[in-house]
Amino acid sequence: SLGNSNNIFWQECPVGKLERQKLINQKGCVVWITGLSGSGKSTLAFALNRQLYSRGKLSYVLDGDNLRHGLNKDLGFSAEDRTENIRRVGEVAKLFADAGMICIASLISPYRKDRDACRAMLPDSNFIEVFMNTPLSLCESRDAKGLYKLARAGKIKGFTGIDDPYEPPLQCEIELQQIDGICRTPTAMSEQVVSYLEEKG
Ligand code: PPS
Repeated sequence: SLGNSNNIFWQECPVGKLERQKLINQKGCVVWITGLSGSGKSTLAFALNRQLYSRGKLSYVLDGDNLRHGLNKDLGFSAEDRTENIRRVGEVAKLFADAGMICIASLISPYRKDRDACRAMLPDSNFIEVFMNTPLSLCESRDAKGLYKLARAGKIKGFTGIDDPYEPPLQCEIELQQIDGICRTPTAMSEQVVSYLEEKG
């Protein structure tokens, strides 16, 4: 049966987390970017990845779209599949953070309970939820992948924000608001995230 943990034992790793952190001179954490399709999640993730690299900090991006080519290629977009998608990426992000890396997860992650479940996997200050609060109208006007057009035409069913829900965070560490006409640059936004990470050590 699935999920049966009988006869399974936890093996303690001889090299501890603190030793790893000391070796690479950084602490692991998860920066979880949530928002609508086309809200700028990946752009922020990659800008942040680059900026941390320039500061000598190792980070790694887990991008929803990309992971669906491999780890999550068996999953679709039903509520159950999205939940499983987020659960898996949460587990992987936790491993990256434990390895000492700044793991940048960029997924729509539309359900609050799924994001909260990922948060609950980590020590409190190690999960930084970043909400890309870009209005649907702006995401739709960009429509970089042409998916909103297809969703409006009924050719994609269950598209987030059109005929599928998105639950914004009630409380998150960082909210990045994008307003029509006055968009901040990806660099400016990732600088805000870097400042937050610096502040929190
Ligand atoms: S989720 O909801 O967190 O499981 O989604 P995620 O793994 O981040 O994948 C989102 C990308 O899949 C494409 N796509 C869809 N998005 C939303 N709804 C539906 N039905 C859908 N079908 C395909 C879309 O390109 C998303 O990419 P982003 O980068 O978010 O624009």
